[in-house]
Amino acid sequence: MPETETSKGDSQLFSPPSGVRGMTKLDRTAFQKTVTVPVLKVRKAVVNGLMRVLKRAALRRPGIKRVIEDPEDEESRLVMLDPYKMRTHESFDKEELSALKQLNVSPQLSEYNLELTYENFKLEEILKAVLPEGQDVTSGFSRVGHIAHLNLRDHQLPFKHLIGQVTIDKNPGITSAVNKINNIDSTYRNFQMEVLSGEENMMTKVRENNFAYEFDFSKVYWNPRLSTEHSRIIELLNPEDVLFDVFAGVGPFAIPAAKKNCTVFANDLNPESHKWLLHNCKLNKVEQKVKVFNMDGKDFLQGPVREELMQQLGVSKEAKHSVHIVMNLPAKAIEFLSAFRSLLDGPPCSSEHLPVVHCYSFSKDVTPAEDVRHRAEAVLGISLEACSSVHFVRNVAPNKEMVCITFQIPAATLYESQTLHPGEQPLEKQR
Ligand SMILES: C[S@@+](CC[C@H](N)C(=O)[O-])C[C@H]1O[C@@H](n2cnc3c(N)ncnc32)[C@H](O)[C@@H]1O
Repeated sequence: MPETETSKGDSQLFSPPSGVRGMTKLDRTAFQKTVTVPVLKVRKAVVNGLMRVLKRAALRRPGIKRVIEDPEDEESRLVMLDPYKMRTHESFDKEELSALKQLNVSPQLSEYNLELTYENFKLEEILKAVLPEGQDVTSGFSRVGHIAHLNLRDHQLPFKHLIGQVTIDKNPGITSAVNKINNIDSTYRNFQMEVLSGEENMMTKVRENNFAYEFDFSKVYWNPRLSTEHSRIIELLNPEDVLFDVFAGVGPFAIPAAKKNCTVFANDLNPESHKWLLHNCKLNKVEQKVKVFNMDGKDFLQGPVREELMQQLGVSKEAKHSVHIVMNLPAKAIEFLSAFRSLLDGPPCSSEHLPVVHCYSFSKDVTPAEDVRHRAEAVLGISLEACSSVHFVRNVAPNKEMVCITFQIPAATLYESQTLHPGEQPLEKQR
């Protein structure tokens, strides 16, 4: 039997029926309920004009029409009002009353029994009604194409399939809901995931900063929260610059940089990322500007990067372009900085042509910027205090920040048996 509730003293009027509490398998029919709401009877002809004035007072529920036919009078319509705001005719404000008067509409309210179904409840309302009382029902997710990527807490797990299905039902365009089943600790940074509801197919297509990317989300890394960071780095590049992307994923730095007419060398160790990186270069028509590699980051730096730098920095002493090296593997990238020590030989290039590194890291320290700088300095064996900046990227978890340290690699680090340039300080003296 569907429940009937009125607004008087009931703050839960638009909550689903109490019988759904504890439901683990979604039964949409159990959400039927009748509520009594105030309505205003108006002549058909004035409805449009009136609705503009009644924005505040009108009822807003998903899938509910605010104006319905009057079962007793075909020349009239009933305007449904918000029962929390509108209890009697005295609830209309001055402006509303004057509009009613002008249109010759009586402010007297009557009652209407409104049938609510599953479609008329919001995601949060459904989860709040189903999950144990008082528990957090966070229903946030990252959207990756057609996939909702949830990160459920332990107490939500008994309801995981229902949460997945409701997330799909309430978000147009989402046809699959997955849950992270461990923290990303795999080499390739892709999440281990479980499909909670909907399509098993993890092949998806996303757009970021106007570029299209296709990939299998179960096999590669993709994080929609990095789009601002991707565009921040791209803004720093000028046409003709060279970009080495050491941990390129499926291309969110490499492809926009190539479109900006930079020459790009993009690498990823994961064969699946490598495959989709190649595919996305073609998809975005930049395959001529991007050389793609499938190597360990250290081998990439000591092989193709070294070779290219020797050529670029040796030959083109007058070159106007800059060289940038992006290292987005926050859990480990700092360790890879050791590859820059004595990477090049021969006479050093002028200091303005030294490559600029953008290296990402997590930090749980109270002063993340200093923590990351000190760790980078320890690996490079030189002070970066005067020549680096640290950008805060995002808060990953309570007390865990993702930051990006940017610096020009000191010649004393990059070149074999190179003495310090003016302004460069050995680490020991600095501390
Ligand atoms: C955090 S993701 C970043 C991907 C991309 N740059 C982005 O911003 O979305 C790190 C990438 O590094 C790759 N990776 C992990 N270990 C690596 C290694 N030792 N050498 C090269 N790539 C590696 C992973 O496969 C993953 O695609």
